[in-house]
Amino acid sequence: MNMDEKLHFADLSDRLLDWYAVSARDLPWRIGPADRARGVKPDPYRVWLAEIMLQQTTVPHATRYYLAFTQRWPKIEDLAAAQDEDVMAAWAGLGYYARARNLLKCAREVAALGAWPDTVEGLRKLPGIGPYTAGAVAALAFGRRAAAVDGNVDRVFARLMALKGEWKLEKERLKREVESLVPADRPAEFAEALMDLGATICTPKSPNCLLCPLRSLCAAQAEGAQERYPIKPKKVPKPTRLGHVYVLFGRDRSVMTERRPDKGLLGGMLGLPTSDWVSDLPETDFPAAGAWEEIGEVRHVFTHFALTLKVWRAETAEPLTPGAVAADGLPSVFAKALKLAR
Ligand code: ADE
Repeated sequence: MNMDEKLHFADLSDRLLDWYAVSARDLPWRIGPADRARGVKPDPYRVWLAEIMLQQTTVPHATRYYLAFTQRWPKIEDLAAAQDEDVMAAWAGLGYYARARNLLKCAREVAALGAWPDTVEGLRKLPGIGPYTAGAVAALAFGRRAAAVDGNVDRVFARLMALKGEWKLEKERLKREVESLVPADRPAEFAEALMDLGATICTPKSPNCLLCPLRSLCAAQAEGAQERYPIKPKKVPKPTRLGHVYVLFGRDRSVMTERRPDKGLLGGMLGLPTSDWVSDLPETDFPAAGAWEEIGEVRHVFTHFALTLKVWRAETAEPLTPGAVAADGLPSVFAKALKLAR
């Protein structure tokens, strides 16, 4: 970065923090500016839990889960002592189930340690904690001078700096820039303010530049081209996989389910029986004899592929284990199939 840019961003943090003092979102996991000023201390467990849930998940969707988890497991020791199946079922619908498995591992490690590591480096060694989460927890829970740079912060700084080069390199550059701007005395609020700016003003589409406290610092705004940024390489289309999913109803509206293997996609989650998921639709392999009827399709997009499953339905007079399951105890793809079958 050259000297011009340094001067250019000289009062960015102050402007951002002034804006945050009056515009902060009220979020259940957050110590708001007024409480922070009064010396209210965050619970690292809650900070961490929220950060893990908010990866790849919107605030409204994650909020319901955050409230349910903290009510059921108010302290890290409670979560550490929970049954795996209970946590996986409570996570169902949030997706990215490796996160839930790592969540439990991490809770158990920290409970065994007896305390959280309170530095970026220490946090990074815990299961499921990458550079973003380590920075966020270090800043939000421990007041460390660390930055929490996620896709939203990438977008804000890609615009502020009008980054036009190769995205991978520009991302590293903007991360260094953000780190250099974190104020030593208020790293938590700096991180939260950037999150709020990205979520409410510097949005992916139609950013609200008229209300932006950083407007006069923004190179993209000066170009009149804020929506052009960030300039990223084109996404390769996801491959499609096909398969069958089987909904077998037993007596008392019970449904045949099976626990998926711990490793792999949806690992450790309760699921409906399915065929393999492959590029050409496979033969059916019904999990039980019966009058199977094809009732439609469900689609679901995973990280690396899009899945279409043909949904088959049958009934039996037998009782089925483990008995009735609620659709909200299943990952979304199975919940969709079950809803269709019901
Ligand atoms: N996105 C990621 N972490 C967040 C947080 N703590 N508050 C709001 N949005 C977020």
